[in-house]
Amino acid sequence: MSRNYFIAGNWKMHKTRSEAATLAKELVAGLKDGKHKYLVAPSFTALETVSAIVKGSNILLGAQNCAAEEQGAHTGEVSVLQLKDVGVQTIILGHSERRHIYKEDDELINRKMRLALKHGFEVILCVGELLEEREAGKAEAVCKHQTVEGLKGISAADMPRVTIAYEPVWAIGTGKTATPEDADAIHAYIRSVVSELYGVDAAKKLIIQYGGSVKAENTAALMAKENIDGALVGGASLKADTFIPIAKF
Ligand code: PGA
Repeated sequence: MSRNYFIAGNWKMHKTRSEAATLAKELVAGLKDGKHKYLVAPSFTALETVSAIVKGSNILLGAQNCAAEEQGAHTGEVSVLQLKDVGVQTIILGHSERRHIYKEDDELINRKMRLALKHGFEVILCVGELLEEREAGKAEAVCKHQTVEGLKGISAADMPRVTIAYEPVWAIGTGKTATPEDADAIHAYIRSVVSELYGVDAAKKLIIQYGGSVKAENTAALMAKENIDGALVGGASLKADTFIPIAKF
């Protein structure tokens, strides 16, 4: 496969600065001979701390969200300018917790995508269906809709800075993983959607991560699939002991 594997840890709303610093140091040491592309996404409050630790290493710094506007009267939001200032390189957008708990819609996520790309960031666009949508046979339609709407107005020239993460909502934090076959089928479908939008070459180069209860025991089987190019890891990214074996699968 010509695509590089991309393994990302989403720390969600966990860790104080000192806890984040400890983990970041363990990962810098443990992954320095790792062969894949790596990223950690701490909470906003720990970004500056972790930034100083991962600087110069093979681990990119990610944020878990950003505002859809550059700056202004937006109480409680964090802007791309502020993220750039602390050394963030990549922004995770459209995570299912943002979509379903905080009611972010496709239009808002798309505005964030365009703003982040305009400011030079890489983005990870998360897509994925709910359990009832899967059971109703709508998994592909939901992923297509979220992909097409998320990428609206994004130029082909910006696509090399876009990663898509397929995260079936029913597999996140539940211990249930999609089978490698089921995940690969959706990944292949998402790639065909991107091919329709941007052409075969852009689709071939697109990194599509899988997310949802990824752990060391299931990583190799998932990554062996043709269309699975990495992982977005939540729970198992919170400890070096559980993340490093995934990152070095
Ligand atoms: P999980 O989370 O690995 O804990 O299932 C994945 C995610 O939400 O990105």
